[in-house]
Formats: sequence, C-alpha cells, structure tokens
Amino acid sequence: MPDGADGPSWSDIADWYDKLLTAGSGPHEHAIECLDRLLPDIDETTDALDVACGQGIAARHLADLGATVTGTDFSASMLDNARRHAAATGHDIEWVACNAERLEPFRDASFDLVTCQLALMDIPDLDAALGSIRRVMRPGASFVFVIGHPVFLTPGARLAQREGDGYDVTVAGYLNEHFWRSSNPEGVRRAGNYHRTMATYLTALANAGLRIVEAEELGATGRLAEDRPAYVDVPMFLSARAVPI
Ligand SMILES: C[S@@+](CC[C@H](N)C(=O)[O-])C[C@H]1O[C@@H](n2cnc3c(N)ncnc32)[C@H](O)[C@@H]1O
Repeated sequence: MPDGADGPSWSDIADWYDKLLTAGSGPHEHAIECLDRLLPDIDETTDALDVACGQGIAARHLADLGATVTGTDFSASMLDNARRHAAATGHDIEWVACNAERLEPFRDASFDLVTCQLALMDIPDLDAALGSIRRVMRPGASFVFVIGHPVFLTPGARLAQREGDGYDVTVAGYLNEHFWRSSNPEGVRRAGNYHRTMATYLTALANAGLRIVEAEELGATGRLAEDRPAYVDVPMFLSARAVPI
C-alpha cells in the first residue's frame, strides 16, 4: 500500500480547489506565468489540449491567447467548475472527461499544442500519460508542462532562511520515489501525488519520443513572492517545452 493511500480524491476537493484559485492563489498565478513563457506562437488556427485541466485556469488562458481549446480531466467535479467558469466568462472551450493516461477520445495527431499544468505529478502512470500526449500531437506540435519542482518541492524538502540573505535547502529521501499526501488539511497535495526524480521525468519524456527544447526554473514574482519569499530564490516549479522527435 503506498504512503497515504487513504485520503480525498481530486473530486472530493474540487470545490475547495476552485475557491482557492478563485480567491487568488500565488502558486497558480506563478504556474500560469511559467506556462505562458514557454508557449509557442498561438492564433485561432492553434488546436490546443489542456490535459488534467482542473477548473480550467490554464485552458482559459490559452483561449484568451486565441487558441481553439479543449480541456480534459478525469474528475467530473473539476469539469463542472471549469464549465461554470467558462459560461460566466464567455470562453468557448470544449470540456471532455477522460483519463490522461489514455486520452482515448482524441485522435492521433490532432493538436498543435498540448499543455499540462501542475498535474504530471498526480498521474500514476507517467509513461502512459506522456505516450498518449505524444500520440495526439501533430508533427511540429509543442508540449508545455509545469510540474512541482522534482528537487525543491518534494515531501522531504525544507527551506530555512539564513541569517543575512538567502535560504538553505535540505532534501531528504530524494531517491525514494513514492506516492504521498500532504498532511496539511489546507494543502492541495492532500489529494496525493507521486514524488519522482528529475531523471525519471527526463527518461520518461525521451521514452515517449519527446525532446525538451526549452526549460526553466523561474523564481517567484507577484503574489507568490509576497506570500512565500523563499520561492524567489528557490524554484517552486520546473517548466519545459518539448517537441516530437
Ligand atoms: C493540481 S490539479 C491541476 C489542475 C489544473 N491543471 C491547474 O493548473 O489548476 C491536478 C488535476 O489533475 C487531475 N488528474 C489527476 N490524475 C489524472 C488522470 N489520471 N487523468 C486526468 N486527470 C487527472 C485532477 O483531477 C486535477 O484536476
């Protein structure tokens, strides 16, 4: 049995998650910035798929940039919130329920852009998800993802402010890949996620036939920098754009 196997599902916390983002969440605003910086040029001919879209924060951003957007998630409750937001804001986005590991409603080579924001860590079979993402990408398409930093945002990472300047980082158990849940009752990660090493992500991308062409570890700005200044120095997320080999 994996650590923390018992706990809430994404659907269980979907309304809580939606309120968190709607109120303004530093990490999520930062994630959008990380994603945005690596997006290719987008116009109305860009068919985009946002995988594990949750309540649709990134999908709406892609639509604002002019793409024709489909958002997909396996949680009906997350998609209900995504639909409600899109109806309220007038975003014309298609919402499709499916498992990111298979993406079976989508044809091969049907998207110019696939995004996945803050969710690859939550999907049990990373190889299957990346293989499916690769399958639905057209030649020349981009896959842009943002993940919790595999080194600095792990269950065993601790940040301690130094006297003077900067932060000391200690990371315990980095090599111990496992499923875990945050014990914080107000933590997003109480729904559970998979700690994986950087090497596992890089190898899985290569095995899926995806080549990283840009990667970034962006320091926090805006609300996240104000609320959690440690992440100005230490990257909270790793983001990258990959293309089919
Ligand atoms: C942390 S939320 C991120 C949601 C959204 N991308 C965002 O940036 O707010 C993780 C999302 O991944 C979805 N998810 C987790 N595993 C999934 C799977 N195997 N297939 C599809 N969606 C999945 C969850 O339902 C949840 O909406």
